[in-house]
Amino acid sequence: MSRILVVYHSQSGNTKAAAEAVARGASAVEGTEVEIKGGLEAATEDLLNCDGIAVGTPDYFSYMAGGLKDFFDRTYYPTQGQVTDKPCAIFVTHGGGGKAVESVKSICGSFKFRIVGEPVLVKNRPEGEAENQLLELGKALAKACTE
Ligand SMILES: Cc1cc2nc3c(=O)[nH]c(=O)nc-3n(C[C@H](O)[C@H](O)[C@H](O)COP(=O)(O)O)c2cc1C
Repeated sequence: MSRILVVYHSQSGNTKAAAEAVARGASAVEGTEVEIKGGLEAATEDLLNCDGIAVGTPDYFSYMAGGLKDFFDRTYYPTQGQVTDKPCAIFVTHGGGGKAVESVKSICGSFKFRIVGEPVLVKNRPEGEAENQLLELGKALAKACTE
């Protein structure tokens, strides 16, 4: 059984919906267990104990939301050297920009995660093709953890 952790921050629900779509995609892969947590509640042990992680944030002022940054800030030192090459999927919701994805990619590089696929950017609430992309991202992450 592989364990996927989905960590996100959301104020008005768009990124929460995106996180749930990623989780649904990952759950569809046999032998996968998924947990979703907010960035302010997810702990160091959650990161250490998962086989793969998906991180999601809205674009706030062209940067990631503070809730996700808080997770990264708290878990960086205690996990250094223990999460190298851990598969990681990235998703961002935005209102027409999306530059925040660069900040997430940069921090994931500091953790030395192995990025799975391309980050998925969604304008506002995910539906239709955007929702499919999130489902596929979750599936790709789960498959990367069973390889
Ligand atoms: C404080 C604030 C700042 C924002 N800044 C940006 C921005 O710089 N670029 C952008 O494309 N959208 C921006 N947005 C729009 C949000 O990224 C977008 O509505 C997002 O889907 C909200 O996600 P949430 O519902 O999960 O909170 C901003 C929204 C807020 C509340």
